[in-house]
Amino acid sequence: MIKASNIQKYYGNLQVLKGVDLHIKSGEIVSVVGASGAGKTTLLQILGTLDKQSNESESTLFLNGIEVTNLNGKELARFRNEHIGFIFQFHQLLPEFTALENVCIPAFIKGTSKVDAEKRALELLAFLGLSERVNHKPNALSGGEQQRVAVARALINSPSIIYADEPSGNLDTESADNLHKLFFELRDKFGQTFVIVTHNDELADLADRKLTMVDGLITSSDNAIRASTTEIN
Ligand SMILES: Nc1ncnc2c1ncn2[C@@H]1O[C@H](COP(=O)(O)OP(=O)(O)OP(=O)(O)O)[C@@H](O)[C@H]1O
Ligand SMILES: [Mg+2]
Repeated sequence: MIKASNIQKYYGNLQVLKGVDLHIKSGEIVSVVGASGAGKTTLLQILGTLDKQSNESESTLFLNGIEVTNLNGKELARFRNEHIGFIFQFHQLLPEFTALENVCIPAFIKGTSKVDAEKRALELLAFLGLSERVNHKPNALSGGEQQRVAVARALINSPSIIYADEPSGNLDTESADNLHKLFFELRDKFGQTFVIVTHNDELADLADRKLTMVDGLITSSDNAIRASTTEIN
């Protein structure tokens, strides 16, 4: 779960986040939409502990019940490695490593043995339809395949929270659709919580809840139409 209150961020005099409050339950898929510059990436980076809010003493950020604002650098790095997976628009795979090696890296950082890491990585890559591609380097993979490798890398340590920033922004329609389906399959199978920043309306509307950001604040929270129509039908 993610529980944040009064998250503010300044860059110099520019206030980019103006006191964001947020409560996302375990297993929920939430999309975040809003105009360019609204503060979506900034918020995601703070929720992911990659960046810090400017008003630490006046705000709170609980992830899985832990107040991460109180953790020191080393503790935070460990927390991130074990609890959080990140998927970015540009997959950021390491070009000199194979798909399998890229997926294993977070597990090695965690201290998992090579045998166990590779076993888990191969399972994930198979689940993502990449069994035939495990020894390819990123430049020998299509964009959609690279993005799925990045998803496997985000999942290798079984994090309970996945943050995705424009995960399908760089993909063709079919690959994007497949990736979106995958997020829901993963949630159903592993119960992960997803926060997905997207300009893709279809993906945004598929989510359990859609948060709209305007000028540094979340201005509305729409529940999925899906849920209510199911009840009516
Ligand atoms: N490191 C930084 N230094 C100064 N200003 C920054 C920095 N990072 C972001 N900003 C500014 O903060 C504002 C919010 O940026 P952010 O990246 O969060 O927007 P966004 O909603 O993700 O937009 P987009 O949809 O274009 O990705 C923008 O005005 C941006 O220029
Ligand atoms: Mg952004």
